[in-house]
Amino acid sequence: MARRRSALLVLCSVPVLIMGCTTDKAGQPAPTPTLTDALPGDPGAGDAYYPNDGNGGYDALDYHVDVGFDPATRHLDGDTTVTAKATRNLSRFNLDLRGLDVKSVQVNDKPAKFTREDEFELVITPAEPVAKDSMFRARVLYSGTPAGAQLSGTGESDIGESGWQKSASGGAYVLGEPHSAAYWYPVNETPLDKAAFNLTARVPDGWSAISNGREEGTTSADGWTTSAWSEPNPVASYLTTLAIDKFTFERSTLPGGVPVVDAYAPGAEARRAAGSQVPAVLAFLATKFGPYPQSAAGGIYLDENLHFSLETQTRPTYARWADISTVVHENAHQWFGDSVSVKSWADICLNECFASYAQWLWAEKDGSDLNDRFLRAVEKYKNSKDFWAPPLYDMGPGQEFEGVYDKGILAVHALRAKIGDEAFNRVLKEWPAKYRHSNASWSDFEEFVTAVAGQDLRSFLDAWFRGTTIPGDADLFPGTLRR
Ligand code: TRP
Ligand code: ZN
Repeated sequence: MARRRSALLVLCSVPVLIMGCTTDKAGQPAPTPTLTDALPGDPGAGDAYYPNDGNGGYDALDYHVDVGFDPATRHLDGDTTVTAKATRNLSRFNLDLRGLDVKSVQVNDKPAKFTREDEFELVITPAEPVAKDSMFRARVLYSGTPAGAQLSGTGESDIGESGWQKSASGGAYVLGEPHSAAYWYPVNETPLDKAAFNLTARVPDGWSAISNGREEGTTSADGWTTSAWSEPNPVASYLTTLAIDKFTFERSTLPGGVPVVDAYAPGAEARRAAGSQVPAVLAFLATKFGPYPQSAAGGIYLDENLHFSLETQTRPTYARWADISTVVHENAHQWFGDSVSVKSWADICLNECFASYAQWLWAEKDGSDLNDRFLRAVEKYKNSKDFWAPPLYDMGPGQEFEGVYDKGILAVHALRAKIGDEAFNRVLKEWPAKYRHSNASWSDFEEFVTAVAGQDLRSFLDAWFRGTTIPGDADLFPGTLRR
């Protein structure tokens, strides 16, 4: 019986039918494939900087994450189902999960064997191999106290290291880049495998939870409040988040009907001045980058002294110090980073150089002379080796964020001067359209911008984005910046 059922699953080709299909198209039991050639999935997705992050052998399509978290005990209960498609005949496969105790794993409703290996590999062996191109569901039950969830909410420790932190008011939040999801659910933790994301969060009455995407309702029973969130667009796992606090919520709708949900943690109410501008910011950015690509909008405003805010999809998470410029930056990421995601972490300038340049575009709207700003910055840094040292492409693991926020802005402005406003404006709109809700690399961008500009940009791009010293005068002051 077990074997037969698996064979039938394999032959169902329509995703909706997979869950309950029992016969093939002709209504006959399907033949059993042998799958003698089934292979294990890879334990890493092969990023040059974080080779063990993510896994190979399948493509995750959808997550249903169900978690309960009690701020008093810091205990988490999790029940996550990943729906995926095998990309080879799979004898076993991995999910990434950091810490937490796994109680059971099922694949297509049947108990599966599992082991924990290395730092964060959950190795799952289903009762039978999964055939290439077939869909399967892996359900993992787990619990425990997440690493970092005990840490006090000063934001002094580096959030990227633990994913979780305790908020100032005793709540908790989990976020981080380049990875954070494996700290709270089993996941294919690579930006290359974006998937739809659904969350049900259970917290004691009096607390509330907020996450990505659309709010799907809140219910209360037995002293626990349960809220549901769903993000139908593909999301890179590091852009998913969960924040639990005694939030004040603000809800509205963008002119096109996109729902806006803002959550202000106790003490963060002053962020409303910036948060209330999200609709205006998105409207402005849409004039530059094309239609807003996400299903929902808003913000999670923490009263935490985080080093960074983060562009969590649809709903960025903000540090205590966030201002309108931060709001512009994180929302620009909804196009640059969230919709168009990196292929590898070496490509991070595609996210940060452009999100940072959006802050200049916002200032330009208010009358700032960007050429002047550029020239003053170059004057200020022209003798600083440190300023020019970080390459904007392939900067090395742990160094992703060194040059992209400052040198990155100048590089994008120089690119604009080099190719002219008309081509530059086309790039800003056509790039997010071409790679909407997918992945792109820095070389994809070089190829794209060269085609739009219709000129050879090789030495210019090398000098600004791959170089480690100040560009020579011809590249430093191109086009309208020529002196
Ligand atoms: N991408 C974030 C930004 O908007 C910066 C960031 C890098 C970050 N690493 C992080 C934020 C870890 C939170 C946690 O610029
Ligand atoms: Zn950023």
